Parts: sequence; structure tokens; C-alpha cells
Amino acid sequence: MTPEERFQFGDNWKAFLTTLDDERIRGAQNSLKELLEVNSLNGKTFLDVGSGSGLMSLAAMRLGAAVLSFDYDPQCVACTEELKRRYYPGGESWKIEPGSALDEDYLNGLGQFDLVYAWGVLHHTGDLFRGIELTSHLVKKGGIYFIAIYNDQGGASRRWLRIKQGYHRLPRFMRPLLVFLIASFFESRYAFARLLRGQNPLPIRDWKQKKMERGMSAWHDWVDWCGGLPFEVAKLEQVVVPLFKKGFALQNLKTAGGGWGCNQYVFQKIT
Ligand SMILES: C[S@@+](CC[C@H](N)C(=O)[O-])C[C@H]1O[C@@H](n2cnc3c(N)ncnc32)[C@H](O)[C@@H]1O
Repeated sequence: MTPEERFQFGDNWKAFLTTLDDERIRGAQNSLKELLEVNSLNGKTFLDVGSGSGLMSLAAMRLGAAVLSFDYDPQCVACTEELKRRYYPGGESWKIEPGSALDEDYLNGLGQFDLVYAWGVLHHTGDLFRGIELTSHLVKKGGIYFIAIYNDQGGASRRWLRIKQGYHRLPRFMRPLLVFLIASFFESRYAFARLLRGQNPLPIRDWKQKKMERGMSAWHDWVDWCGGLPFEVAKLEQVVVPLFKKGFALQNLKTAGGGWGCNQYVFQKIT
């Protein structure tokens, strides 16, 4: 994959940062607390693999953790640094650096953490299962490994891959149009389904939930869906069974319900 084909997540996140507010940060904190089933991360070390905007690193900082954030994309590193500059200038307990979840030498130098968090990242590295293999080694015994991986929907996942490949073949100025068309198609279908269920057809509730859970605006989520390459997917058993064999126990799970989106897994390293 050439650098041109690789999706520039940073462009997306930079735009997202302009819309960041306190409500979104609280939403991010709550989503961490909910799946980890904790109220605080006081005294914990937190590794944010593929930090993107840095929002979840910021949420972990606010919950009391010492955070190391890294991302492959220099613009994401810059976004995360911008968040630190805004909210924790000079904060010693938040370190940010460029790095790859597939770079074994880099990862070996990081040590181990109470929490390793890779939300929506490993399926964008180009080698999902190696990414899991390498980053799971960074979890301390008794620590938590929290990952979110695209659900494998068979034919539908292959169609998404073709849409994403098409996005990258378009000239840059045409790409928002593709995102708009795809988003309009799906949002209209969802609206129609809501109407049939006797609900308000407008997507306001969905969009608010997205904003509260991930701090992501609906538009940025659609851009991510249409342009996020590399793109891999996994069935539950492809993630759970190998990790179980390595001594990880599944503590919490939030699936995409067989549909599109991410399955979210919270493992604890037992042995
Ligand atoms: C969909 S975003 C998720 C960002 C963030 N984890 C979150 O939960 O909002 C995917 C991120 O993975 C990063 N990424 C892709 N390949 C990577 C790699 N090999 N190592 C580290 N980060 C990578 C991208 O730059 C991007 O920031």
C-alpha cells in the first residue's frame, strides 16, 4: 500500500478537534468507565495504541492514569500533542510519541502496562493478527487488554472494502461527495426503518449517542467508514480463542450485534 492509498486519519482528526468540547470528553470518559467497569484509573499505567485524536488518552488522564500515547500517523501524534497542550500543558504523566503497533523493536522498548487500549486500530494496521500478537505482550499480568475490531460480516465486509478502495481512487476533491452519497443512502435507510417502528425518523438520537460514546461526530465517523484503509475484519472466535490460549480471560464484550461496526473486547491477562 502506497502512502497515497493509506488513509490519512490525521486529516480527519484535525477537523474533529475543532468540534471538541467538554461534553465529548465526558462521553469518552464514560465509555471507558462503562466497558472497564471502573470509576477511576488512579495509579494505573495506560498505553493508548493508535491514539488518533488523543481523546481517549485525555479521558484516561482525567480518570487518573499515567498515559503513553503513540500513533503511526504524524498528524495524529500532532493532534494528541495539541490535546495535551490544551488540557495538560507540561503534564509529566502523559507521554506522546510516533510509533507503530507492528514495530516489534519499538514495542519491546515500551515495557508493560496495567491497561493496553487499542480501539479501532489494529484492523487498520495492515496486519491485524500480528498487531494483536505484538500488543497483547504489553499487558502486565493481571492487567487489561481492551481492543475493538471490525466485525466480519462476510460479503458485506468485502463490499465495504471495495467502497474504501474506490474512495482512494477518487481525486481528493471528489471524496467528500462519495462520503455524502454513502452516508445519505444509509442514513435514509435507517430513517425509514425508524419510521416503520413508529419512531422519530431523524438521526438525532444516533448521532448524539455516537458523540457521547466515542466523541466522534457523525460526519467524521462516515469519513472514517468510507476511507479507512487498510481494513481488516475478524469473527469473535478469531480474536477470543488465540488470546484465551495465551492466558487472557474475556471480562467484558460488546458486539456489533452481527452487523457492521466494531466488536469491543475487554480481556484480563491471567497467566
Ligand atoms: C479509527 S482510528 C482510532 C483512533 C483511536 N484509537 C480512537 O479510539 O478514537 C485508527 C487509528 O489507528 C492508527 N494506526 C493505523 N495503523 C497504525 C499502526 N501500525 N500503529 C499505530 N497506529 C496505527 C491511525 O493512524 C488512527 O489514528
